[in-house]
Amino acid sequence: MKIVPLSDVPQFADQIIDWQWRAFGEASSRAFFASVVNSSLAGADFPVTFVAVEAGRAIGTVGFWRCDLISRQDLYPWLAALYVDESARGKGVSEALQQHVIAYAQARGYPRLWLWSTFGGYYERSGWLPQGEALEYPDKPVKLYYRDL
Ligand SMILES: CC(C)(COP(=O)(O)OP(=O)(O)OC[C@H]1O[C@@H](n2cnc3c(N)ncnc32)[C@H](O)[C@@H]1OP(=O)(O)O)[C@@H](O)C(=O)NCCC(=O)NCCS
Repeated sequence: MKIVPLSDVPQFADQIIDWQWRAFGEASSRAFFASVVNSSLAGADFPVTFVAVEAGRAIGTVGFWRCDLISRQDLYPWLAALYVDESARGKGVSEALQQHVIAYAQARGYPRLWLWSTFGGYYERSGWLPQGEALEYPDKPVKLYYRDL
């Protein structure tokens, strides 16, 4: 498996948009995820979309975003939109994608990385520290995590 920026493998953009939309979106929000993913191809510092590729197939994705929680714009950058294809789960692909973003953020000199999740007990296993709850727009309580780099 290798992990590369989406700009190296743009043929997987539609696949990643569909994964994000189905995992994190509402019925009508495919265009929202298309905007995030397509804007990550513009060459700006944020957002960056990474893709895990194995045997010529995309098996997972993760984002490095400027903002993933509009109620907490004091916090950045974020590890966001982590997704592993169902056929590839339980083999540590998620861990590898997390480590890739951690190293990427570290190499750019950021002192701290953030993420939020609707579930607990998972990210703690990879060394993320809980930082209480926050609100996903407009009123969904979520768990906030960080790690120092
Ligand atoms: C969460 C996810 C990225 C994990 O990918 P993965 O490559 O299978 O991860 P790993 O192999 O490192 O770890 C698998 C572990 O994650 C746990 N896990 C997955 N989803 C979970 C959830 N919703 N709640 C708690 N634990 C969860 C599995 O139970 C498994 O635990 P085990 O090791 O005790 O069996 C993947 O299940 C996924 O894409 N889910 C849908 C999208 C999503 O929820 N993304 C995270 C948003 S914060």
